[in-house]
Amino acid sequence: MIKNKPIYILGIESSCDDTSAAVICNGKILSNVVANQEIHAKYGGVVPELASRAHQQNIVPVIQQAIQQANIDKKDLNAIAFTRGPGLMGSLLVGTSFAKSLSLALNIPLIAVNHMQGHVLAHFIEEENQQKPPFPFLCLTISGGHTQIVKINNYFEMEVIGETIDDAVGEAFDKSAKILGLPYPGGPLIDKYAKLGNSKAFKFTKPKVDELNFSFSGLKTGILYFIQKKTKENPTFIDENLNDICASIQHTIVEILFDKLKNAVKQTGIKHIAIAGGVSANSEIRKVLKATENKFGWTTYIPKFEYTTDNAAMIAIVGYLKYLDGSFLEEPTSATARLKVSEA
Ligand code: KG4
Ligand code: ZN
Repeated sequence: MIKNKPIYILGIESSCDDTSAAVICNGKILSNVVANQEIHAKYGGVVPELASRAHQQNIVPVIQQAIQQANIDKKDLNAIAFTRGPGLMGSLLVGTSFAKSLSLALNIPLIAVNHMQGHVLAHFIEEENQQKPPFPFLCLTISGGHTQIVKINNYFEMEVIGETIDDAVGEAFDKSAKILGLPYPGGPLIDKYAKLGNSKAFKFTKPKVDELNFSFSGLKTGILYFIQKKTKENPTFIDENLNDICASIQHTIVEILFDKLKNAVKQTGIKHIAIAGGVSANSEIRKVLKATENKFGWTTYIPKFEYTTDNAAMIAIVGYLKYLDGSFLEEPTSATARLKVSEA
């Protein structure tokens, strides 16, 4: 019944350094506005205090733009979904407080969303030519803050079966890029230069970690020592070999990810495999995942580029699914910096 009438939900995302708002109608995205915070590039990483201040400045215009682009009036909204966590506390509080105030002003329900569930459930946004994964499926969730293999039993039942014991894969990309003198966030730049390089040019040691878990801090240190040694011998080593270095780093990271993903498939017998999170924008990861279809008979699910890095469309789809489920926020709940993917 409820599925037939238009349900408009506003999604608000402010967990890290992007302020974003989106409007979704019955699973279809009508708008998805993202304001990136340029300020952090200067510091080589996200500065939490500056991030909250930028959210504060961006949130009203971003939400107004999302409502305008969706071609609706704010009075048409049925509910407001916001990122409750995990993320930077100061940043989360801006989105949370704004969502609470707007829901009071419009007298509509609030829906709390787990950011990590948002990355995963972005696969359920209605899109042409985009297949939705059937349950259960595995999702490799890779971002600046997380690296997890998650078994998705249904929309809200998620089980982490492997995760990083130190740095996230996005951090591995960003920290390696920093060592090479590239600006933050370095992941997309490594991806860009790697396309022109030889991935076998340099060899980096892969970590040995138990079961389905990951580790990236040793790789980062290995890269740092390698670069220090090489630039001592030749001060222009980085400039002369940037493409090859990036290709070799990326190749090593992708191998680490896929070694574990293959083990996860073996262990669970599940061959429906999705990727999610900012790092899933990486072209090599997409290519290698696609190749597993022919190679191993996996069915793969690759999100549209704009739903990979932090965005509010992914918060809005979780909001819609929770709306259908009647999961509204009934008691005052605040933002929380730490939240497991299995928690609502
Ligand atoms: O999901 P996301 O936007 O934010 C977090 O929740 O962390 O992920 C951001 C991360 C950054 O580390 C960024 O460098 C990385 O995603 N990233 C990439 C690419 N695009 C974004 N890493 C590798 N290749 C890319 N093309
Ligand atoms: Zn994220």
